[in-house]
Amino acid sequence: MRSSYCLRMTQSHPRISKAVIPAAGLGTRFLPATKATPKEMLPVVDKPAIQYVVEEAVSAGLSDVLMITGRNKRPLEDHFDRNYELEEALSRKGDAGRLAKVQESSDLATMHYVRQGDPRGLGHAVLCAAPHVGDQPFAVLLGDDLIDPRDPLLARMVEVQEREGGSVIALMEVDPAQIHLYGCAAVKPTGESDVVKVTDLVEKPDPADAPSNLAIIGRYVLDPAVFAILRETEPGRGGEIQLTDALQKLAEAEQSAAGGAGSAGGAVHGVIFKGRRYDTGDRGDYLRAIVRLACEREDLGPEFRDWLRSYVTEEM
Ligand code: G1P
Repeated sequence: MRSSYCLRMTQSHPRISKAVIPAAGLGTRFLPATKATPKEMLPVVDKPAIQYVVEEAVSAGLSDVLMITGRNKRPLEDHFDRNYELEEALSRKGDAGRLAKVQESSDLATMHYVRQGDPRGLGHAVLCAAPHVGDQPFAVLLGDDLIDPRDPLLARMVEVQEREGGSVIALMEVDPAQIHLYGCAAVKPTGESDVVKVTDLVEKPDPADAPSNLAIIGRYVLDPAVFAILRETEPGRGGEIQLTDALQKLAEAEQSAAGGAGSAGGAVHGVIFKGRRYDTGDRGDYLRAIVRLACEREDLGPEFRDWLRSYVTEEM
């Protein structure tokens, strides 16, 4: 009895396995570093920022990764591919440690790439994933947000989506003065303290009009119904096709669905994140992420912390 129930569940809800990572942005906040190097390749300590994001998807059980890239993003593909010349040279030297580091990124996940021809916004980037994703729920991870691996967020979001259906977004309380930098959600509580139901969403509101101080941070688990909505979504804030606007339509359709029957795309839930997040798209936060992660590294941390302590006391 139990096993046939489980089988039915598995058939109707195959486990989410696909992650989409939009990586077509120009990275103008980091010029001149990003003139010829994708911003996703900037190192956080000694690993490109994008590798942390792919590792996060993999540790949440998503091993099929589609990157939405654009012109000048070739180094991303190279980073997640084999580099036989380098591997050969390191093997010849017997440098097993470095060889493992080189192979780590190419063994991580099954990588796929699609180019976003015109940079028409995050919603448009996600829409480029439609042929690859098909009709299953999928995750979206924005490369500018690094979530500390010790505070798993995506795995919790996948769990909530698999139970509730529909879409799930990550939310974090921010200083109300900062809400204009984010998508913002109005929510209702549920029986679980870290899960809310989203009733309204607005992209980068003026603080005076913001429905809350709950900001969307760059993790989403989406129902594929979002694709049809994105196809119809007009450019919004900044003249771009906004993912937030499409999710707002999903939340709205579910709220107005008659007699609680639910809408085709399902509800939008939020998981409230209280862990450590670094915005590597911001130069100050990028530096903070490097310092924090370097301090915590077993190999570099002890010496770096000593230096940092004396630097702060003696030179600042
Ligand atoms: C995007 C989204 C926004 C979200 C943010 C999270 O904005 O449009 O809703 O809050 O990512 O980092 P961007 O920062 O790309 O302008």
